[in-house]
Amino acid sequence: MKTSRRLMIAGAGASLLPLHPALAAGLIATPSQTEGPFYPTAFPADMDNDLVQVRGQAARAMGTVLHLEGRVLGLNGRPVDGALIEIWQCDALGIYDHPRQPGRERRDSAFQGYGRLMVRGDGRYSFRTLVPVAYAGRSPHIHVKVASATGSRLTSQFYIAGDPGNERDGVFRGLRDPRQRERVEMRLASAPGVESGALATTMDIVVG
Ligand SMILES: [Fe+2]
Repeated sequence: MKTSRRLMIAGAGASLLPLHPALAAGLIATPSQTEGPFYPTAFPADMDNDLVQVRGQAARAMGTVLHLEGRVLGLNGRPVDGALIEIWQCDALGIYDHPRQPGRERRDSAFQGYGRLMVRGDGRYSFRTLVPVAYAGRSPHIHVKVASATGSRLTSQFYIAGDPGNERDGVFRGLRDPRQRERVEMRLASAPGVESGALATTMDIVVG
């Protein structure tokens, strides 16, 4: 009697094994998006996680400050420890700090344009950057790249949820699944307790 009950329990457990961890946690991966032509060819001297303030400069970048934070998670919902996360974006005038950028000399030199950090053991990351602006042919977006210590690689882009330009943006429109879109849509909120006039958003990044 004892033995058969134990066997029954073992059998019930075994039937759960084929469940993929992603299904068990209910997470879908952040979709991959093109890197685009403006990933830095040379990294700035200051490449910390505060893109609004360049070390050694008094001026703050033009534009609306955005506190972008979240966690880097695996498909199983667990924080990814030891991941390098990078972001890059154009300045408030729509100009990247990049050799292929026409009018680069007019860029806001007080904007860092690129930043990186290693996520902590709890998977958390945070950047102080700008609310992205549109430039010719693209709706506002922030480029993001994650490389985990275990070898996962992801390149994607974050958009502003509800921006009317998104539906005209070929890269964004390439995402058909609304759950994938949700992974890259930033919902902006005011951040009165954090920084006056700034906005904030939380974006968890799920890497496969
Ligand atoms: Fe871009």
